[in-house]
Amino acid sequence: MPILVTGGAGYIGSHTVRALEKQGREVIVVDNLSKGHRSAVKNSPLYVGDLGDRAFLEDLFKKYKIDAVIHFAALSLVGESVQHPDAYFKNNVGHALTLLDVMCENNVNKIVFSSTAAVYGEPEIVPIPEDHPKDPTSPYGESKLFVEKILNRYDQAYGIKYCSLRYFNAAGADPKGDIGEDHSPETHLIPIVLQTLLGKRDSVKIFGTDYPTPDGTCIRDYIHVNDLSDAHILAVDALERGSESKIYNLGNGKGFSVREVIETIEKVTGKMVPAEESERRPGDPAVLVASSQKIIDELGWKPQYPSLDDIIETAWNWHKQFPNGFPD
Ligand code: UFG
Repeated sequence: MPILVTGGAGYIGSHTVRALEKQGREVIVVDNLSKGHRSAVKNSPLYVGDLGDRAFLEDLFKKYKIDAVIHFAALSLVGESVQHPDAYFKNNVGHALTLLDVMCENNVNKIVFSSTAAVYGEPEIVPIPEDHPKDPTSPYGESKLFVEKILNRYDQAYGIKYCSLRYFNAAGADPKGDIGEDHSPETHLIPIVLQTLLGKRDSVKIFGTDYPTPDGTCIRDYIHVNDLSDAHILAVDALERGSESKIYNLGNGKGFSVREVIETIEKVTGKMVPAEESERRPGDPAVLVASSQKIIDELGWKPQYPSLDDIIETAWNWHKQFPNGFPD
């Protein structure tokens, strides 16, 4: 039975669609293409539409006997969410409710949900375990936390089983080289540095050098996008085996500062990165590093690309091949 992937033309979504296809799963992709790319979906059918459009979703659930949903479609920029909380709550919470209602109507009771490290806010304990207090510093993190709470209630009331995956910093590209990270506008550190090396930007701004970290810059836990995809497959498999609802962190458990990321990029590419120190970016916590022990223990998740060098290498391969990103 097919898996419905919302946001399957986006960065993590398209890599997961690829992984599902490799497993021989039938995949139906839904994306409104506001951020996603048509050409990132190469094999599975892509339905262009919005999750706010209930009739569109109802038609899809009538057409296909969906077994499970992987729900990526969302707005995902911390800073933007502070400026436009309305859009974040409407898109991320409102549309998730529409999706869940249509799932319930059609007796589809399995969902893997894209959550985020942003649900935690400033960490009290590092590496962060799943039961760490949740105090999001942005509407983005809050919108994801609301959906987690809604999922919990829908489980109790309607038997929806969910697996919520809290990603830390997704990075890298499929090593085959034909899909990768292409956001517009790009806000993420690694693609911005690589675009600078390709002459698309003059320099990289280091946002904040006065954080309470050894070199003063923010520390993040970078995880390869294919390792995230693998976790989604494990999550769907577990739900199909009748697992209870679960929440897992996904990171490598090792933090790198902004300066260390830039140094690693210089090492991997053999090129000097023009960088300038700049003000802090609002909403950035100083340190975000995951404990992913729970998914390792319970689902046997094992990252294939735990090294930052390898993650950057795959991203660099893609960016060199597609300096202008996807054609559409
Ligand atoms: N950074 C720079 N210069 C840039 C871009 C980023 O110094 O040009 C810094 C940021 O300030 C941050 C680090 O690099 O300290 C990583 O920034 P990214 O934008 O690449 O990633 P974020 O940590 O902001 O975002 C990620 C996910 C979000 C998630 C968030 C949780 O992409 O979805 O972690 O805080 F919400």
